[in-house]
Amino acid sequence: MMKQIKVAVNGYGVIGKRIVEAVQLQDDMEVVGVGDVAADWRIKMALKKGHAVFANTDEGAKAMQEAGIRTSGDFNDLLNVADVVVDCTPKKFGASNAEQYKLAGVKYILQGGEKHKITGHSFSAESNYTSALGREATRVVSCNTTSIVRTLSALKRANLLKKARGTLLRRATDPWESHMNGIMNTLVPEPEIPSHQGPDAQSVDPELDVVTAAIKVPITLSHLHYWNVQLTRQTSKEEVLEAFRSSSRIAFVRMSEGLSANNAVKELMLDLGRPYGDMYEVVIWEDMLKTEGNELYYAYLVDNQAIVIPETVDAIRALTRADSDPQRSIEKTNHSLGINQFFV
Ligand SMILES: NC(=O)c1ccc[n+]([C@@H]2O[C@H](COP(=O)([O-])OP(=O)(O)OC[C@H]3O[C@@H](n4cnc5c(N)ncnc54)[C@H](O)[C@@H]3O)[C@@H](O)[C@H]2O)c1
Repeated sequence: MMKQIKVAVNGYGVIGKRIVEAVQLQDDMEVVGVGDVAADWRIKMALKKGHAVFANTDEGAKAMQEAGIRTSGDFNDLLNVADVVVDCTPKKFGASNAEQYKLAGVKYILQGGEKHKITGHSFSAESNYTSALGREATRVVSCNTTSIVRTLSALKRANLLKKARGTLLRRATDPWESHMNGIMNTLVPEPEIPSHQGPDAQSVDPELDVVTAAIKVPITLSHLHYWNVQLTRQTSKEEVLEAFRSSSRIAFVRMSEGLSANNAVKELMLDLGRPYGDMYEVVIWEDMLKTEGNELYYAYLVDNQAIVIPETVDAIRALTRADSDPQRSIEKTNHSLGINQFFV
């Protein structure tokens, strides 16, 4: 029987709970426990779904006890049963947790809210799976950065990419917490250009010539990017589409089919029966994409809650050397999650 990688997920929020479910779909890994500090309905759901829950702090343990949540131990107990910890705690917590993971001698994966320097390696499966093989740690780059690396790497592989300039319309908050924060009736530009996503993409591939500007918009469903790319030469729309198709995690929709806004695309994901209506692919509007001389224009959607999930599954395989072939891991993950380039 195949050796099961023992995966702990620390932080059972938006990203953590999805990683737990994705890991459960793999035949070479298993979830050994979920760590958190909260004691509300979300952690009760983890228990209800059959996961062992670990309390990361004394206050967390007390709150869980009071809420009737049965725990299987503390932070150290969780680290003791894991080969890899996927840290999905809020931004900046991962940095201090990393010290604990190192002390415990357990491999770890941080998410995009953390800085590159903490792990010294930033991950995007199609770009640099191989350089993560056997490492102690990596960081799966953020949702926006993942989309940038996937799309620009596809153009780069086809020798088409000269330089790319993008404007990112960023969702204001996640759907489940829109009663607690977010913005309304306003648009909030990031104060600096470049916004952090362009330089962050270079943490995966320093050769990318990319500049981003970003603006927060009062929606929760997804991000939307507009890109203007200077190509190395004059080319056709078909050749560009072919380059994008070289990524199995870039998909296409058409405005002409009624998929003309992010809410319609979300409905499509729900119709497909995706868990939480999740969209793991970068979704490009095929009919909007335009080439003019050596310039390329396109727009796409990024499901911030979902795009990093397949990347994290691949990062688990890379760190543990469960598979040294990036393509095999990517295909396995894609198959398990129903990742598809053509939805309808
Ligand atoms: N939400 C997104 O759109 C998104 C997308 C890509 C990457 N990320 C990154 O993923 C990471 C997690 O983000 P999220 O949106 O899932 O956060 P979240 O707030 O939804 O969930 C965080 C969870 O961690 C728990 N937690 C808090 N302190 C903890 C501690 N000390 N120990 C253990 N658990 C603790 C919280 O109770 C909560 O359940 C961040 O680095 C974020 O930047 C988020």
